[in-house]
Amino acid sequence: TLSQIGLIGLGTMGAALASNIADNCFDIAVWNRTTSVTHDFVKNAGDLAPRITSTDTLEDLVAAIATPRAIILMVPAGQPVDDQIAALRPLLDDDDLIIDAGNALFHDTNRRAAEATGPFLGIGVSGGEEGARFGPSIMGGGARQYWDRVSHILEAISAKHKGTPCATWMGEAGAGHFVKAVHNGIEYADMQMIAEVYGVMRDGFGMSASDIGDVFARWNTGPLQSYLIEISGKVAQAYDPKSDGPLLDIIVDAAGQKGTGRWTAIEAQHLASPIPGIEAAVVARNLSSRRQERAEGEALFGGAPTSIPKDQLSIDQLEMGLIAGKILSYAQGFAMIEAASESYDWALPLPEIARVWREGCIIRSTMLDDMATALTNHPDRNLMRAPAFADQLKAHHMALRQIVAVGTLHGIAMPALASSIAYFDAMRTARGTANMIQGQRDYFGRHSFARLDGGEGWHGPWAD
Ligand code: 6PG
Repeated sequence: TLSQIGLIGLGTMGAALASNIADNCFDIAVWNRTTSVTHDFVKNAGDLAPRITSTDTLEDLVAAIATPRAIILMVPAGQPVDDQIAALRPLLDDDDLIIDAGNALFHDTNRRAAEATGPFLGIGVSGGEEGARFGPSIMGGGARQYWDRVSHILEAISAKHKGTPCATWMGEAGAGHFVKAVHNGIEYADMQMIAEVYGVMRDGFGMSASDIGDVFARWNTGPLQSYLIEISGKVAQAYDPKSDGPLLDIIVDAAGQKGTGRWTAIEAQHLASPIPGIEAAVVARNLSSRRQERAEGEALFGGAPTSIPKDQLSIDQLEMGLIAGKILSYAQGFAMIEAASESYDWALPLPEIARVWREGCIIRSTMLDDMATALTNHPDRNLMRAPAFADQLKAHHMALRQIVAVGTLHGIAMPALASSIAYFDAMRTARGTANMIQGQRDYFGRHSFARLDGGEGWHGPWAD
C-alpha cells in the first residue's frame, strides 16, 4: 500500500516526527540523504516499522506516496530547504504539497510560498525532540486549502489541551513560521529571566544549586508552573559524578543560539514594536559568549556580585517579580504578533496562539490559559492591561522593581528583568520624556514638534 505522507530528513526532529506520525496510525515513507540513516531508523522503529516505508532515492520516496502527495521537509533551515525543494519539486505532480516543518525564517517562507510552483506550507513545530515524538505544538502557515488537506494528520500528532489539538493554521505564507519565531523570542526571555533569578539566588543569596532546584520545583506548583521552570529545577538538581557536585556548577556559562531569538528581535525593530525583554534576552546570550572579556572585566573592576542581606530581598519576592516579568514579556510578544498581523495583512488569531502554546511547546505553562481568556475578552488591549494581568502586575511590580534595584546595587546583571520593569514603567507613564527628544530634533534638524496645547509643525526659538 502507498503511504499517506512522506518525510525528508531523519535528524533528531525529523526522526521523532516520523515516529509520531506512524504512532498515530498513518503510513509514512521516509528518506534521508545518507541512506544508512534511513535504514537504521526503520531497523530501530520496533512496533512502528510496519507503517514506515524506507526509501533510498527521492524518486523512490515520491513513488511510495499516494497522490496528491504531501511531503514534510525536516532539513536544516536556510539553503538546505531551498536545495531540497529544488531537487524534489520536479519529481512531483502539480498538486503535490511540500511542507517545510523546520525553523525557517518567515521571510524565507514568504519567498518560498511566492516562488512555489506547487502547493507549499511552512509550519512551525515546537517542543524539542520529545514534543516532536509525542505531541508538539504546531503553527501552520500557507494557503488554507493546503492546511486543510493535511490538518487531520497534524492535529492527530500534535499535543492536546483538554482534548483540543495544539495545531492551528495561523495565516498565509510565513504566518506560521512568524508565530514560531515569536514563540522562540518569548522562550529566550523566559529562559533568561529564570537564569537571572538563579543568579540572584546563587550569587546574592549564596544558595547551592540543589537548594535553588528546590525553589524552582516549589514554584512549579504555583502561578509560575511551566515546562521551563520544571526543567530548570531538574537542571539545578542534577548531580555530576565526575566532579562529585552539582552538574550546573561545571557547565560553561556561554549560551548558544541558532538565531530564531535574534530574528524576533530584528523583526520587532522593523515593526517598531517594543519587545525589550526579548531583545535583552538575545543581548544576554551574546554577552554570555564573551567569556574572555568578562574575565578581564572582573580582573579590572573586581568581581561583581556581593551577597544580598535577607531583609533586602526574599525568595517570595523573586517569585512575584518573575511572575511580573513573565507577564510583561508575553505582553510584548503578543503585541508584536498584533503589529505583524496588521503590517503583513494576516489575521493572526491571538487567543488561539496562546491556546496552541498551552501544551507541547517549550513555553507551555498554565498561565497561557488565562492569557487565552484575556486575549479573547480584550482583543484590542495590550495583555498587561487586561484585567486579570493588570491585577497581577499591580500586586507584583514592586517585587520586580525590588529584584532589579537590589540586584543592581549588588552588581548582579539582570538585563531581561531590568528591561521588563522599564517597559512597565514606560507603558504606565502618560507624560514621558520624548518632548526633550523632539526639542533636540527640532534644534539640530528643524524636524518640528507638536504642542500639548494644540497644533503640529512648531519650531523653537533656535530656528531663527
Ligand atoms: C522549540 C525550540 C526549538 C529551538 C531550539 C534551540 O520550540 O522546540 O524553540 O525550535 O530551535 O530548542 O534554539 P536556540 O539554539 O536558538 O536556543
